[in-house]
Amino acid sequence: MESVAACLYRMQIGDPAAPSLLAAAGHEMRTEALACVPAGKAPFPMEDIRISTQGDRTVVLIPFHEGERLYGCGLSYQKLNRTYEVIHLRTDHYGGRDNGRTHAAVPFYVSSEGYGVFLDTPVEVSFYLGGTVRTDDSRKPQARDRTTDPRWTSVTPGNWVEISFRAPGAVLYLINGASAADTVRAFNLLCGGGCMPPKWGLGFWSRLHTKADADAVCREIGAYRERGIPLSVLGLEPGWQNYAYPCSYDWSEERFAGHERLPRDLLDQGIRLNLWENMFVSPASTLYDSMLPYAGSHQVWNGIVPDYTLPEARAVYQARHAALAGEGISGFKLDECDGYDRWLWPDHASFPSGSDAVAYRGMCGLLLQRMIDEVYRARGERTYGLVRASSAGGCAFPFCIYNDCYAFSEFLTGLASAALCGVLWAPEVRDAKTPDEWLRRFQLAAVSPLMMLNAWASGAKPWKFPEVTEGVKEAIRLRYRLLPHLYTAFYLYYAKGEPPFRPLLLEGGDYSGQRDVPLSDTENPYALRQTCEVVDQILVGRGLMAAPIAPGQTSRTVVLPAGGWYDFYTGERVCGQTLTLNPVPDHLPLYVREGTVLALQEEDGLCLCCFGESGEGLLYDDDGTGRGYEEGAFYLAKVSFRRRGGVTEHRVTVLHNGYPAPRITIR
Ligand code: GAL
Repeated sequence: MESVAACLYRMQIGDPAAPSLLAAAGHEMRTEALACVPAGKAPFPMEDIRISTQGDRTVVLIPFHEGERLYGCGLSYQKLNRTYEVIHLRTDHYGGRDNGRTHAAVPFYVSSEGYGVFLDTPVEVSFYLGGTVRTDDSRKPQARDRTTDPRWTSVTPGNWVEISFRAPGAVLYLINGASAADTVRAFNLLCGGGCMPPKWGLGFWSRLHTKADADAVCREIGAYRERGIPLSVLGLEPGWQNYAYPCSYDWSEERFAGHERLPRDLLDQGIRLNLWENMFVSPASTLYDSMLPYAGSHQVWNGIVPDYTLPEARAVYQARHAALAGEGISGFKLDECDGYDRWLWPDHASFPSGSDAVAYRGMCGLLLQRMIDEVYRARGERTYGLVRASSAGGCAFPFCIYNDCYAFSEFLTGLASAALCGVLWAPEVRDAKTPDEWLRRFQLAAVSPLMMLNAWASGAKPWKFPEVTEGVKEAIRLRYRLLPHLYTAFYLYYAKGEPPFRPLLLEGGDYSGQRDVPLSDTENPYALRQTCEVVDQILVGRGLMAAPIAPGQTSRTVVLPAGGWYDFYTGERVCGQTLTLNPVPDHLPLYVREGTVLALQEEDGLCLCCFGESGEGLLYDDDGTGRGYEEGAFYLAKVSFRRRGGVTEHRVTVLHNGYPAPRITIR
């Protein structure tokens, strides 16, 4: 393996011209930042990695030992620990099972030992995560007789993680960070570093009913204003187009007469417009004729599927989107690029570039994000949007993944899992059966990368349930209060690869265990053990932790990672390693780590709130919309504090002075 950075090794397998996720995303690896990631001890001798072929499959063997826990292998919604699982990773919608069919089929895993493995290929990759035993292995698990030996287990821990795939080539990376958190950071930096959303993107979003027209847009803004609810972005669903599914990408003159002025009028009121679309081009579209030569062999919903690996197809798409951006549209929601076998193109479909249909499916989400990102980059602007599929290389694109599932627990676990595969996940609010559910969903969305009500079918408004309207408003206000903290967290994502929303396991502790589940000839015939882990808490930037309450939940346990913790609302210290909330509070439980300096947007300005006796934190700021930060037009300071006899002393050390320092108060 060739060394790329202290913590990064690379090996070309087979044909270097084979399709690649990183090439599709097109970002430069962040070499300087990568050089700062501390490397760990070699987890095993490099020469122990084995590569072979078996028929048309390439097989990669990575050493594994019992006791290691493996995380990642794509966006999951029910669990984080994937040890001993078999995962066939494929870009798809999530169908209720963590089986590898997912919106971010990222072929990367990270071990509790600190290192990680990434195979750069857009084709389907199979991971056998530690449960295979090879006949020629010198060490083998002890054989036991099931009838007489109670220690018999159905899972036999082996010596390898086995990875196999069908493609002419791929690139294998071994990432050897000093900890799992460092490895995840290095993975993100290899992929181009995290995205830096515009400030408005971190405000509150509302998507209107799909049939909404220009009047509905104006009424919506008025209704928010009347109720004193802040709003940053309005989303228009398929009905903004004159034809959708497949898409025309042309405004509906019927619903949006005067659309040339609408986005600018809204901008004048501080509201951005985001437009929905999918990638299938309708015969009714003004783009159809120019796109037809670049269409694949199969249609989806009677629309053609452009081959966006071709520059000519990209040019047609980008010209249309550049025009929309020119009208003042702030971004897009790129729907349906994850697919669903029943309506996507088949695996044997062909594309004019010669792209393999499965590989193309794996790259589509990245190609779409890249085209949109380039459109705004060319304008010197930032965008922020939504996408239904992404992969390795996606972290540098300012897009969040969403889906059509709606289980609260899965939405919460998705937030944690996204950090383990270099993407952002948005647990949106759509509708609810009870006021409690409504409130809890808004609270969860408040601590996610994109806080959004997506009422495309329900037409619901935040004030749908009067009994909880105050609580919902509180959650939206909380979001705006947290903005400076979130913005700094995103800077750390951009500059250091640090995921802004993270599971507890990236804090270094062991938050997963195994539970015996009784043998049962109907429920559990293989006496499979169950993994129990903390999948319902989330770290939000440095030093802040959320423990969202699920709808209907009446009590919950909160695990406190090492270090002291304070209640965000009362500032009181919380004791112990776990906390039981019984009854649960009406608000979103939030905790702040001792020594944290939390940047909050209070009514009277930016406030740095210090928790504990002494500590430090970072504060980042820039113009919020432009790309100057990439050239150094930003402000970064370290703020340290110490309390002495009831007085808080603080020191601000400016680390980078490319933008005016914000006015702050310290508490
Ligand atoms: C779905 C999408 C929804 C909504 C809808 C509109 O695919 O997940 O959020 O946009 O399409 O038809």
